[in-house]
Amino acid sequence: MTEALVTDQTIPKVPTLPDAQTVTYVKHWTDKLFSFRVSRPASLRFRSGEFVMIGLMGDNGRPLLRAYSIASPSWDEELEFYSIKVQDGPLTSRLQHLKVGDELILRPKPVGTLVHDAILPGKRLWFFATGTGFAPFASLLRDPQTFEDYDEVIITHTCREVGELAYGANLIASIREDEMLQELIGAENLAKLRYYPTTTREESPTMGRITDLLRSGQVFADLGIEPIEPGADRAMVCGNLAFNVEIKEILEGFGLREGANSDPKEYVVEKAFVD
Ligand code: A2P
Repeated sequence: MTEALVTDQTIPKVPTLPDAQTVTYVKHWTDKLFSFRVSRPASLRFRSGEFVMIGLMGDNGRPLLRAYSIASPSWDEELEFYSIKVQDGPLTSRLQHLKVGDELILRPKPVGTLVHDAILPGKRLWFFATGTGFAPFASLLRDPQTFEDYDEVIITHTCREVGELAYGANLIASIREDEMLQELIGAENLAKLRYYPTTTREESPTMGRITDLLRSGQVFADLGIEPIEPGADRAMVCGNLAFNVEIKEILEGFGLREGANSDPKEYVVEKAFVD
């Protein structure tokens, strides 16, 4: 008689952390950016675009948690996150070393304003992101509702360097090419998607901050569309603090008003996570 082979795969993992989930995938995009996927608690329901608190156990024996946008859509079996690596950041200095099989704390209480419920119906939906602010849109762009509700969906992403666009560019390519996503969202709906990446510190086809390109009108000229107006345009914004402040001013200048879950209007804003 041969002994049954016992491997890591055959021993069920017993969670050792409160609200523990298991890392299933890690990808490093640049020396400062990475994405990872974790198991999804069976009871977790969320709206695409929302965030949760995730983290690791601190040295003091208490959880060290930060708000992270869920980058995967609400129908996905797993949860995806997109993160910066800050070398002396309390959480990301450790999070960047995550490996498949590691545990992560995830508090299953999703919240956030970058949700369809917080904006009024419109014709054209804009997603404005800088850096890791792309994450909530990675969720919304894989949600069929995003395309069903609008005639046109435009995602702009401004980063310093070309390499920092990779996660977003890859996601856009997968939405256009992945058979499962094509079937789910529909070819007609996918034709509504426009992607407008820009860089500020390295040469790329479109250079400059999206804020400057909106003010000058170049983005409208490049896309061959009419300028933003409150009757047709809706926007969701996620980026660094200075960017959020500036783009709010620009959108208000176009006549859009800031909405919330309890009071939907023409645009909504959320700060991208920084450790
Ligand atoms: P810039 O290189 O001109 O600062 P960060 O990596 O600092 O979070 O920035 C991400 C991107 O957001 C960069 O391309 C940066 O451009 C841009 N950015 C920073 N502040 C603003 C702002 N106030 N308005 C528009 N874009 C901004």
